[in-house]
Amino acid sequence: MPDVIYLDANASTPCDSQVVHAMLPFFAERFANPSSRSHTPGREAFSALEEARRTVARCLGAASATEIVFTSGATEANNLAIRAAAAARTDHGRHLVSQKTEHPSVLQPLAALRREGWEVTLLGVDEGGRIRTGELEQALRPDTVLVSLMLANNETGVLQPVAEAAALAHARGALLHCDAAQGPGKLLLDLGELGADLASFSAHKAYGPKGVGAVYLRRGRPPLRLEPMLAGGGQERGLRSGTPNLPGAAGLAAALELAAERTDEDASRTAILRDRLEQEIMNGLDGVRRNGDLRHRLPNTTNLSFAGVDGSALLASLPDLAVSTGSACSSAAPEPSPVLRAMGVPPGLAAASLRFSLTRHTTEEEIGRAAQRVMEEVRRLRG
Ligand SMILES: Cc1ncc(COP(=O)(O)O)c(C=O)c1O
Repeated sequence: MPDVIYLDANASTPCDSQVVHAMLPFFAERFANPSSRSHTPGREAFSALEEARRTVARCLGAASATEIVFTSGATEANNLAIRAAAAARTDHGRHLVSQKTEHPSVLQPLAALRREGWEVTLLGVDEGGRIRTGELEQALRPDTVLVSLMLANNETGVLQPVAEAAALAHARGALLHCDAAQGPGKLLLDLGELGADLASFSAHKAYGPKGVGAVYLRRGRPPLRLEPMLAGGGQERGLRSGTPNLPGAAGLAAALELAAERTDEDASRTAILRDRLEQEIMNGLDGVRRNGDLRHRLPNTTNLSFAGVDGSALLASLPDLAVSTGSACSSAAPEPSPVLRAMGVPPGLAAASLRFSLTRHTTEEEIGRAAQRVMEEVRRLRG
């Protein structure tokens, strides 16, 4: 088996050794429960948890550490933010707005709320995968409670106009939630500039560990009063019961600190390599389509459709590349990607698409080899 070239950073990234180092003491030495304040090890664990929270807040540009609630990842953060914001604002109305290319961890909670009687407007996207802000403006109503708009799409890397959407939502008295899972580690992000009231994060997309993330809840007037999803011991100020994942929180904090230091450089490097991958493949093959807005996208991602081949067959013929045909969560499903379909990519082409997402460790040599292998297999399958 040849070495596999890993180009699936949007599914998960390797946990950085500095991050592992920051987490290690909290497994066997400093293992006490942060809620056990009756003894010194417990109080020390609590201090470490709060220090991690302060670091996360600082790295994301939150105004205060109290705005950060640790979760098991972005899926939980999305569910918590959407459910909780909806439940807290029923006096305002029962209308929610989002868009068609959101991650299933946003679309599914919205579908559940719809079954419970909420009205949900899902905006379409343009050819490039971005919402039209004019359409958002028209969709907003006096009874709109929440707009949920992702920062960057996991399949195409396309960036949504979140700050603009937040301003529009606020003008109509609605909150804005942003699924920012694909942001940290790939682009520098500042919650103050983003303008979101709620945002979701995941450590394993940013060179941190799996199973930990955070939801950001803007403090303000009126304060966001959220309903917890889990009943239990009332940890995380009552919002997220369950013994805090201290190694995970320390890992998320370390990953975000590292991201703050190196994202500028990583982003420029991966963008050059990503562009090279695209150019080599597009110069070498006919019938390749690049999916997604080229001016507004993550620096590490490209999504390419290959006319005349089947995406699954292409994937199967490339065991030496770790790439994907859709989001990891739905890659078992045989239908063409709903994200590409929403962008107007015809079903045949959408089914013949691959997502390449580079990590900060991807090398020039790997990109050259990956481009060669893709061209070889596409030619073979077409032939
Ligand atoms: C945009 C987006 N949102 C949410 C998630 C879910 O994140 P997690 O794996 O932390 O639950 C993902 C992961 O695939 C994602 O890409």
